[in-house]
Amino acid sequence: MQLFLDTANLEEISEIASWGVLDGVTTNPSLVSKESGWDFKKLVKEICKIVPGPVSAECVSEDAEALLKEGRDIATWAENVVVKCPLTPAGLSACSKLAKDGIKVNVTLCFSVNQALLAARAGAYFISPFVGRLDDINQDGAALVEQIAEMYHVQGIETQVLAASIRTPMHVEKAALAGADACTMPYKVFKQLVSHPLTETGLKNFLADWKKAHPAVATQK
Ligand code: E4P
Repeated sequence: MQLFLDTANLEEISEIASWGVLDGVTTNPSLVSKESGWDFKKLVKEICKIVPGPVSAECVSEDAEALLKEGRDIATWAENVVVKCPLTPAGLSACSKLAKDGIKVNVTLCFSVNQALLAARAGAYFISPFVGRLDDINQDGAALVEQIAEMYHVQGIETQVLAASIRTPMHVEKAALAGADACTMPYKVFKQLVSHPLTETGLKNFLADWKKAHPAVATQK
């Protein structure tokens, strides 16, 4: 499963990219709006330079024709940019035309198996089921990822399942076990994936033992 960061913050992206495990980035209008002082296009181009993998940039137009025009423009910003369209009739219409042009589309705001089927028929490259927002209304978001992955498998569909709206490391584990192709998570969750108290105390003890036995070497930086 590819690991994506769900942010438009360049510092967060650079830090996680330096670990060598960052496969891509997703942004949305809310995340981009948090980065005050940045022009949308410039910010996306900057992110695309840091991360060679897919970087999703979301259209903000509302009707099909405007979404198509905007999507075609966004697709020219960088080689690795992926155009994000909402799971609405207008979004599906734009997606199907963009896909025919060879443009990769991430269809976002997916909350059901049938919506995922429609996105696949429209030629989506990624489908983004929103796990956390379903949990928020007392539905099982992780189960939706599992059902979409199963349906795509049964139907021989190549659209990639990108688990989104991730709130906890447990969501990441469940997405991986469900067979998601990618999972996008906030910076805080990405950091939580690496930390374990036993890793921290284990390393502290190894280094303390080493310093005791090798006092001269221990002073070297
Ligand atoms: C996905 O691409 C979205 O940007 C994101 O995952 C939404 O997450 P939220 O529900 O935490 O806002």
